[in-house]
Amino acid sequence: MGDRPKVLVTRRIREAPTERLRERCDVTTDENDFGIPRDDLLQRVAGYDALVTMLTERVDAELLTAAGPQLKIVANHAVGFDNVNLADCTAAGVMASNTPDVLTETTADTAFALLMAAARRVGEGERFLRARTSWIWGPLMMLGQDVHHKTIGIVGFGRIGQAVARRAKGFGMNVVYSDAFQLPSDVEAETSARRVDLDDLLEQADFVSIHTNLTPETRHLFGAEQFEKMKETAVLVNTSRGAVVDEDALADALAAGEIFAAGLDVFEREPEVSERLLELDNVVVIPHLGSATVDTRDAMGHLAVDNVFAAFDGERPPTLLNPDVLG
Ligand code: DGY
Repeated sequence: MGDRPKVLVTRRIREAPTERLRERCDVTTDENDFGIPRDDLLQRVAGYDALVTMLTERVDAELLTAAGPQLKIVANHAVGFDNVNLADCTAAGVMASNTPDVLTETTADTAFALLMAAARRVGEGERFLRARTSWIWGPLMMLGQDVHHKTIGIVGFGRIGQAVARRAKGFGMNVVYSDAFQLPSDVEAETSARRVDLDDLLEQADFVSIHTNLTPETRHLFGAEQFEKMKETAVLVNTSRGAVVDEDALADALAAGEIFAAGLDVFEREPEVSERLLELDNVVVIPHLGSATVDTRDAMGHLAVDNVFAAFDGERPPTLLNPDVLG
């Protein structure tokens, strides 16, 4: 590596972490907020010592080969890393990292915002007023579902799932979770959560919030069969990855009144949002804003930079995903 390593940041990130990178490296940042098209990225990626990638870039053998042998690290600016093929990174001798922890509380806030908005018909009410609809207060107008003291089922009880449980506790909710692992009793005590299997969770929960990673096993974990098991008054919230939910089956369930509503931050074919969902009033949609706050995006950027610098210094990156690569 020369004196000043070269870093490609595939999308503009916050200024403070970008400045930190610039102090030490030659930084190329794509100024186009729509991202670098795949073919352009493959053309441009050669010769960098580090890539800071977004969840919109597929990091696989093809990209790593195009990048060339001096690439040391791919620092993904997201906690989710379903876009990164870790086996390909390890085979290429490239470290991969993500940005866990720093976005936990913010993403849990987003899940709760969607839960509240879907339960209390906030989006629908907003659209109603913005359409200048004439109205007068009425006792039967836009009745929603209570949140407080209801049961929430959390699917995937990792850091973000647990942070949602802490919020639910504040609302006096009963918390159940499903996860491959039983959590230690102190975590269950802190969140007052009880582990059940997914079918029981679907039957019991008034709110189902998804916090599982996207893997081949969790793709379409939610389909027609799962929606049938849920209560007609239930609300589904997804802030994890869109493809965990079969969107067509969800649109069917919402249209048929099999469930009450959904709050979605993520979509199966992002950035495309299903027309069928957009046409339904009982869906609240936001454009993948789970971690989108000023403080959290600063923290994610700084963590990505910490990982890059550690790789340059011959140290173990703090949130390394493929420790096998170190041999
Ligand atoms: C993540 O980090 O994986 C979120 O989906 C985007 O912030």
